[in-house]
Amino acid sequence: MHRIVILVSGRGSNAQAIVQACAADSWPAQVVAVVGNRPGAAAFEMAAGHGIATALVDHTRHASRAAFDAELARVIDGFAPTLVLLAGFMRILTDGFVQHYAGRLLNIHPSLLPAFAGLHTHRRAIEAGCKLAGATVHIVTPTLDHGPILAQAVVPVMAGDTPQALSDRVLAAEHQLYPLAVGWWVRGQLQVDGGVVRHTGGAAQLLLLA
Ligand code: GAR
Repeated sequence: MHRIVILVSGRGSNAQAIVQACAADSWPAQVVAVVGNRPGAAAFEMAAGHGIATALVDHTRHASRAAFDAELARVIDGFAPTLVLLAGFMRILTDGFVQHYAGRLLNIHPSLLPAFAGLHTHRRAIEAGCKLAGATVHIVTPTLDHGPILAQAVVPVMAGDTPQALSDRVLAAEHQLYPLAVGWWVRGQLQVDGGVVRHTGGAAQLLLLA
């Protein structure tokens, strides 16, 4: 049984999608905790409603990034996770933290990586005239929004899209993509070969929602 800890900063809709899929699809896994860095994050309420433990590690109460990450790791490790998921966790993590969870730390990012790492992905995609946008689930490495890709979802950019409209479309895709990729992971259906992740059963690691 995998033990999953989900890190959040706010709304937690991706965390919710994972919690629901874990139960509905009988993953060989349990979401053991939702850990956040912002007091009052909606994700805490969602987790508590599912009987899942929550913990707050408030970044404003730590003098440095390293001190925050050390406390975060201490709290996470208290739940003995085999898999840690970033789901809208809006803090840049230190190399030490990433290395501590090497190979068991995944992220979802709202762009088709390697395009548009960082913030404001939807506005940047619209301004660049992109016709496609989407989301990526990847293994976290010390380089921000970079690492072997488990799966990607593609949606169209419509004429006249606002960043909010595109964000809504991508988020709906994220709610399908993250559970799909994590479900494969906990069932041992993915093989990491250098920088490339393959589904051992040959499933398409692409959701084309265009
Ligand atoms: C999601 O769109 C996620 O991809 C993004 O934040 C949102 C969180 O929503 N993550 C990042 O931008 C990380 N760099 P949620 O809290 O409702 O899951």
